Amino acid sequence: MIIKSAKFVISNTKLAHCPSDNLPEYAFIGRSNVGKSSLINMLTGHSKLAMTSSKPGKTKLINHFIINDNWYLVDLPGYGYAKSSKSMRSEFGKIITRYIESREQLTNLFILIDSRLKPQQIDLDFIRSVGTLGVPFSILFTKTDKDSKAKISANIEVFKAELAKEWETLPPIFLTSSKTATGKEDVLNYISSINATLQ
Ligand code: GTP
Ligand code: MG
Repeated sequence: MIIKSAKFVISNTKLAHCPSDNLPEYAFIGRSNVGKSSLINMLTGHSKLAMTSSKPGKTKLINHFIINDNWYLVDLPGYGYAKSSKSMRSEFGKIITRYIESREQLTNLFILIDSRLKPQQIDLDFIRSVGTLGVPFSILFTKTDKDSKAKISANIEVFKAELAKEWETLPPIFLTSSKTATGKEDVLNYISSINATLQ
């Protein structure tokens, strides 16, 4: 897929203020600092579209970006940043939950997992809760440039084995790096193939 245009539309915490034009949405979710905003920039080829930071907790709102004037990428706050205050964690939690539970245009949720880590309980719990809600999701492993191929493959195999304990069929899985643009074509083609089924 070719990205002809990528534009910021609106940031807010309220679903009522999200775009109401019913175009399909692809949202990015995962622990704080996992690389959600960076991935949106990498996929669109606009390095400053979504705001990123080396400090966790950067994205605090639901951010809509319209792509090629006919679908959205949505950047969400992260979950589970231990150092943020309890009230901030619960505020982010509420924003995310409301969005995931109620946003009818949500076409696919990309759940981002740090490829350098062994499976984290918070991610496994989050995936389970998304599955329970019946929201279509895929898994994107991030930051694959930061470790050896062997180590990353090993981590991903362990993660898949964890998922296989609960899921008969595994969701689509992508390996990505915002630094090297690994996975860009695969993810964009995947979105494109879903969009084609919606027309
Ligand atoms: P919050 O908005 O705080 O929840 O974080 P986020 O998930 O949006 O992460 P963000 O994109 O802001 O990236 C966090 C940090 O990781 C930044 O310093 C990025 O430069 C870095 N980063 C993100 N993706 C990659 C990647 O693929 N490779 C490398 N080397 N660094 C990355
Ligand atoms: Mg962010």
